Amino acid sequence: MSEYVISVNGRFVPPGEATVSVLDHGFLFGDSIYEVVRTVNGRLFAADRHLKRLRNSADRLELKLPHDDDWFVQHLRDMQQRRDGSESYLRVIVTRGEGALDLHPGTCTCPGVIGIAKALPRWDDELYAHGCKIIVADVRRNPKQATDPAIKSGNYLNNVLAIMEARRQGATEALMMNVHGFLTECTTSNVFVVKGGVVKTPALDQGLLEGVTRGFVLEVCRGLKLPVEETSLTADDLHRADEVFITSTTRDVMPVGLVGQHKLHSVPGSITLRIANAYHDVLHDGRNHQ
Ligand SMILES: Cc1ncc(COP(=O)(O)O)c(C=O)c1O
Repeated sequence: MSEYVISVNGRFVPPGEATVSVLDHGFLFGDSIYEVVRTVNGRLFAADRHLKRLRNSADRLELKLPHDDDWFVQHLRDMQQRRDGSESYLRVIVTRGEGALDLHPGTCTCPGVIGIAKALPRWDDELYAHGCKIIVADVRRNPKQATDPAIKSGNYLNNVLAIMEARRQGATEALMMNVHGFLTECTTSNVFVVKGGVVKTPALDQGLLEGVTRGFVLEVCRGLKLPVEETSLTADDLHRADEVFITSTTRDVMPVGLVGQHKLHSVPGSITLRIANAYHDVLHDGRNHQ
């Protein structure tokens, strides 16, 4: 059985036969959006939040989604069902569709919908036990006035450059600053620092994706009565932090042990552990399953 289950415009096709047109503006210009939903015990986790973000991304690009949320939920379930039963990583991509070789999307009348499912990646236990390494990348995150990072688009070239930088330095993730030198987020995860018992994360107006996991973690902190701040943070805040962790759909809450050459002392820190445990409960709370 192939590693992937793939659908094109709602139809499941063998991976070797799954194709998109070379005139699809998603391929030509990165004019596409996507979401990744994970399963927990075979059920969709937080699909409602992901679909809300998909719709927001579509609105920002004036791209009309060809289906309603019920269709997407059902399709995600179908993708999961066609897998081997282990936990899934379910990606849905909506492209602008085929059109003339011209930037303006006016000739693209039919958006494409691609589904790609694979096993949920399993990160090394070592990364949770001793923390991962991140770097602060040279490449910067787009300002909100360019392609707003709040749009989860298929246009990820800054992130590609940043992750290449990270891997060259043996790091798992690269944290990007905005053009003003404030921290935003990593290439596929959000970042949190803990200092003096306060949990801080870059505010959305710094230009970043509003991570679904980030949102749950903020709720978890409020539930645990931990003070939280969405604020402006610099690389100095990382170096002075008591604890640092990153969050994403596939990683959950992952402690950071090294920022470049700088070693964090408590890894995983006690607050990170409390948040990670509470988030684990959120993951298994049936109210978040669809
Ligand atoms: C740029 C970026 N930031 C943050 C995240 C984390 O978001 P979520 O928690 O919704 O997976 C992702 C996920 O892919 C991402 O691509």
